[in-house]
Amino acid sequence: MTSSSPTLSTQEIETLSSKANAAKAAAYCPYSKFRVGACLLTQSGEFITGANVENASYPVGTCAERVAFGTAVVAGQRKFKAIAVATDITPPASPCGMCRQFMSEFTSPSFPVYMYDKDMNCTITTIGELLPSSFGPDDFGH
Ligand code: THU
Repeated sequence: MTSSSPTLSTQEIETLSSKANAAKAAAYCPYSKFRVGACLLTQSGEFITGANVENASYPVGTCAERVAFGTAVVAGQRKFKAIAVATDITPPASPCGMCRQFMSEFTSPSFPVYMYDKDMNCTITTIGELLPSSFGPDDFGH
């Protein structure tokens, strides 16, 4: 599957990055002390944030990206333009494997992922680069 994502405006990128950065403050991460903020831009122009939420039973915790996507999906959103992820490290963190699969369900390979480091320097990648040869909703064969 190939499809292209429309380019984001400077304003959209600025809002995405500042909201992802601000969302770090909402992280519940008493175990790792590793704050992650995410901001998802929907096709309809809404910005939906997420942050990581950890748990005393460690594997139960969830990542910022999945919180953002889950929030958007239960709000009825299905089409997305881009996601920004912000952390307090350099180089920036890239989404974990589980989040890559989770995001690929609702995005095309060209979906842009903006990753911000502690100084808000940005590295841009795509879901297709992060998760090549993925298994998705069109692959059931029925
Ligand atoms: N984490 C995220 O929220 N997103 C990522 O892309 C990488 C990791 C969280 C999970 C956990 O709460 C903490 O960061 C350390 O792994």
